Amino acid sequence: MCGIVGYIGEQEAVPILLDGLQKLEYRGYDSAGVVFPVDGRLHVEKQAGKLAALQEKLNGRAYPAVAGIGHTRWATHGRPSDANAHPHTDCSGRFAVVHNGIIENYLPLRDWLKAEGHVFQSETDTEVLPHLVEHFYRGDLVEAVREAVSRLEGSFAMAVVAGPEPDRVVAVRQDSPLVVGLGRGENFLASDIPALLKHTRRTYILNDGEVAVLTRERVKVLDRTGQEVAKEVFEVKWAAEQAEKNGFDHFMLKEIYEQPRALRDTLSGRIGGNDCGVALEDLQLDVAGLKKIFITACGTAYHAGLVGKYIIEKLARLPVEVDIASEFRYRQPLVDRDSLVVVISQSGETADTLAALREAKRYGAHVVGVTNVVSSSVAREADDVLYTWAGPEIAVASTKAYTSQLLIMYLFALYLAEKRKTVGREDLRQIILEIKKLSHKAQFILDNTAGLKSFAEQYVDCSGMFFIGRGLDYAVALEGSLKLKEISYIRAEAYAAGELKHGTLALIEEGVPVVALATQGALFEKMISNIQEVKARGASVLALAMNGLDEVEKVAGQVIYIPATHPVLAPVLTVIPLQLLAYYTAVGRGCDVDKPRNLAKSVTVE
Ligand code: AGP
Repeated sequence: MCGIVGYIGEQEAVPILLDGLQKLEYRGYDSAGVVFPVDGRLHVEKQAGKLAALQEKLNGRAYPAVAGIGHTRWATHGRPSDANAHPHTDCSGRFAVVHNGIIENYLPLRDWLKAEGHVFQSETDTEVLPHLVEHFYRGDLVEAVREAVSRLEGSFAMAVVAGPEPDRVVAVRQDSPLVVGLGRGENFLASDIPALLKHTRRTYILNDGEVAVLTRERVKVLDRTGQEVAKEVFEVKWAAEQAEKNGFDHFMLKEIYEQPRALRDTLSGRIGGNDCGVALEDLQLDVAGLKKIFITACGTAYHAGLVGKYIIEKLARLPVEVDIASEFRYRQPLVDRDSLVVVISQSGETADTLAALREAKRYGAHVVGVTNVVSSSVAREADDVLYTWAGPEIAVASTKAYTSQLLIMYLFALYLAEKRKTVGREDLRQIILEIKKLSHKAQFILDNTAGLKSFAEQYVDCSGMFFIGRGLDYAVALEGSLKLKEISYIRAEAYAAGELKHGTLALIEEGVPVVALATQGALFEKMISNIQEVKARGASVLALAMNGLDEVEKVAGQVIYIPATHPVLAPVLTVIPLQLLAYYTAVGRGCDVDKPRNLAKSVTVE
C-alpha cells in the first residue's frame, strides 16, 4: 500500500517528510515524492525508484519550507514511473495531492475533467484529485477538498497542500488509514503510526469520512457534514518495531486481518452496473475461440489455480488443466494457439512460473498473468494482466494474496461464463451479490477466532496433522496443509477425503488430529462418512462447515462454522480459519512466523 506523510510547524519540512517516508518503506513501494509550498508556489520533487535516490537528490539542499506532504507509491493504476509518482498537481500547479487507495470512478471523472479543459500528465487514478480541487476552489481549500471528495467512489486516504494557502495541510480518510500526530507548535500526518513515533505518541486516528485541517497551532477535524468533531487523543504505547505491524505481533497476522480490505480493493471497479456482469480490465481475449485453459503456478498460487479450475469448469464449461509450474515447463503440455494459459504469482517473479509463462508463449498461447505486483516480470511478459490489489505481502506465508487470487479466479470464471452464456443472468447476479458480501463475512470470521486458538493449543506438539475435503474443500485442504507445514514445521498432509480408504487411513490412529472441511452441501453426507471413518480409528476431528450444516456436530469433536455463502465461494472464507490455525500453532511452537526456515518470500531461482 502507498505511504503518506505530512508536516506543518516551525522546523524545515523536507527532512521530516523524508524521514517519515523512510519509516513507511516496509510497506513496499516503487516510487516516492514530496511537495512543499515556498513563497506561494508549490515545489514538487518526485521520481520512480527507491527513497534513497530521492533523499540523495534533496539532501544538502536547504528548503525554507515549514509545511509539506510526501508519498511512497505502491502502483495499482499506472506502472512505476516519474510521471505516475505522487504528488500529483493540477493544471495551475497551485494544488498538490498524495493518495493511498483506489478511486473506482476515476475514468468518468477524468473524461469530465478533460472535457472541462484539464490536462493530465499521468496514467494514475489519483491525478483526478488535484484537478477536482482546482475545479472547485473558490478561495477555501477545505471546502474545495470536501467538494472534490463528494464526487469520489472507492477507497482513499489523501493529503492536500495549496500554494495560495501555505499555512495548512488538509487530509481526508475514506477506507484507507490516516493518522494525525499532535505536536507542540507543529502537527504531523501519516498513513501509519511508525512515521510519527519520532515526534509524538499523541495521535488522532481519523475515521472514514473525516477531514483533518492541520495548522501549526491546532488540528481541526470535520465530519462528513462539515461539522467539527471532538476527537479523542490516542496515546501510542507501541515500540517502533511493533508499530510497523500496526500492533499485530507478526506481519502474517496483520495480513490475515487485512483480507477484508484486500478483497474490497481487488473487487473495486470490477463489477458491472446493477450487480450484473463483471467488468474486467480490457482483456484481449477471443473467448469464442477458446478451446482449453491451462493454469500454472507454484505453492499457494497453485492452490488458487486449483480452485480456479473447479470454478471455470463449473461456470464457464471450459476444460481446465492445472499444473505446478515446475512440472508444466518440462512436460511438453499440449498447448496451442487456441489455448489460454493463466499464470498466477503474488510476486510476479517466481522463476518456475516465469519459465512456464515463456514456455506457453513459445507454443503461441495467449497468456493472462494474475499478480500482486504492478510491473513485475509476470505483469510485463503476459499478454494481459489481472492484478490482485492486496497491497504488499511481507510474510513468507501467503494469505491475503491467496484470497485475492481466488477472487480474481471467480471474476474471471464469471467473465467467461457471461460471454459464453453458460450461466443465466439471475444466477450470475446471485453469485455477484454473494461475492460483494465476502469481505464482510471474512471480517465476521476474524472477529470470532476463539475455537481455533484452543484447537491449536491442543495440537501444538503433534507430530502430524491431516486435512481432508472433497471438491473445492480438497483444494482448500491443500492450502491449509501448506500453511501449517511451512510455518510450524509440523508434517501436514491434505487428502481428497474419498481417497482415505486407498491408503492414508493406515496412518490414522488414536489422537491424530484431522481437519475435515465440509462446506459443500452436495458432498456433505459423504464427508460425514469420512469423518466417521477417521473417528472410528481414534482421530481427533476439527470440522469446518458452513452455517446450517450442523449435522456435523454429531460426528466431529469440534466444529468451526463459516458464514453461509454460495458454495462455489466457500474457499475464500474456509481458508481463513486454516490460516489462523497455522499461525497460532506456529506461535505456540515458537517458530519464526514471518520468516520460516529454508524459505523465501519470492523463489526467484529454480
Ligand atoms: C506460500 O505461502 C509460499 N510462500 C509459497 O508457496 C508461494 O506461494 C510460492 O512460492 C509462489 O509464490 P508467488 O505467488 O510469488 O509466485
